[in-house]
Amino acid sequence: MTTDRYNAFAVALHWAMAVAIIGMLIGGFVMTSELLDKSQRFTMIQWHKALGVLMLLAIAARLVLRLATHPPALPNYMMGWERTAAGLGHIALYALMLIMPITGWLMVSSSQYGLPTLVFGWFTWPHLPGVAADDAVNGAAKALHYYAAFAFIAVIASHLAGTVKHIWMDGHALLYRMWFDTPKRALLGLGGVAASVLALAVLPLGGAASVSTPSLNAPAVSVADAAPGAYVVDYGASTVSFSGIHAGDQFRGTFSEWSADIQFDPGALADSRADIRFALSSASTGNPFYDGTLPESDWFDIANHPEGRFAATSVVAGDQDGTFIMEGDLTLRGKSLPLRLPFTYDVVEDGTAIVKGSVIADRLAYGIGENSDATAEWVSQEITIDIDIRAARQSDDESDLSS
Ligand code: HEM
Repeated sequence: MTTDRYNAFAVALHWAMAVAIIGMLIGGFVMTSELLDKSQRFTMIQWHKALGVLMLLAIAARLVLRLATHPPALPNYMMGWERTAAGLGHIALYALMLIMPITGWLMVSSSQYGLPTLVFGWFTWPHLPGVAADDAVNGAAKALHYYAAFAFIAVIASHLAGTVKHIWMDGHALLYRMWFDTPKRALLGLGGVAASVLALAVLPLGGAASVSTPSLNAPAVSVADAAPGAYVVDYGASTVSFSGIHAGDQFRGTFSEWSADIQFDPGALADSRADIRFALSSASTGNPFYDGTLPESDWFDIANHPEGRFAATSVVAGDQDGTFIMEGDLTLRGKSLPLRLPFTYDVVEDGTAIVKGSVIADRLAYGIGENSDATAEWVSQEITIDIDIRAARQSDDESDLSS
């Protein structure tokens, strides 16, 4: 009786995979349906990718096991055609278990979105080596993933039909072969599966387990560059940030590396100017998916354009008292476009000068995300840029904000 059973590890792996595959198929169709809103869809696709990667690892373990060990022989009562059908069915199942995650992997690797595959904050699964963003490859992978899902359903259905036939029509209680004979073996088998997935994920990936961020030429902006002046920017209390909407949800990011050189005198606007520079690689939204995507070539393209800059050559008075407008060029991804940044200027009791400004920029005008999301289906076209700069007065001259 024990020789014609699968071993406990194979049994545990079989049932874990069965549940996972059926869950992935159902989840896959749900997440691409109209049932979810954009935000839910985005979240569910990230879960799907993470689970799919774990499944690829489990499938690899299963294949190694299948090739390294001999499965129990098919029961004697099975006829020739049944043996052939069972053999072909098993080959189809293994093929589809590989085709599904590999086409999914190819799909995300060739996607213009450039979104990383984060496995539950545990490790980042790299994109397929040598695969660049390519619509044709992405479309082919997507179609394969889609049609293979139907093929998978058909093969699983015939696998089940075969099992039902053996049990109810032929009267052979065949299912025991793929079940644990003792609770202890069940525990051993399930523990073995969990340990193997962990080992496969942690050991061989090692260095590859991080998002490949292109190396950044250190931008010429940093707090240390601050030149002495009447005001020194308090970088700890100041922020340069951007915000917008992704999949219906608000996001906000800040730059941690930036510098501001502002000469401002409300009484001498003609002599006023500003130069704000920020390292695009220092952008952080607190969302690992966004932070993994922003450096990519279609978004900030930090490998080629590490720095963003707003250079205002003139400052004019605004409509209301205490309001002003910096007029200059905003440069992103190597493209400079005119921008008017309205701001307020206040000097509080302790002499701290506060400059607060906000402006809406059109990301597509700079080519940001133009391949991934040219119609702003996911990410809003309008991105708000906010500055909130606080500078400590170093002398009596309140008019000079140079830092
Ligand atoms: C056994 C593993 C997997 C199964 C059974 C599975 C199943 C499915 C199904 C049924 C769909 C919906 C049909 C479609 O629109 O294509 C889907 C969509 C998707 N899958 Fe998978 N998948 C697996 C692995 C993966 C992996 C490993 C990834 C990526 C790392 C992935 C990424 C995706 C993506 C991005 C979509 C959405 C496609 C779209 O936007 O239309 N899948 N999957």
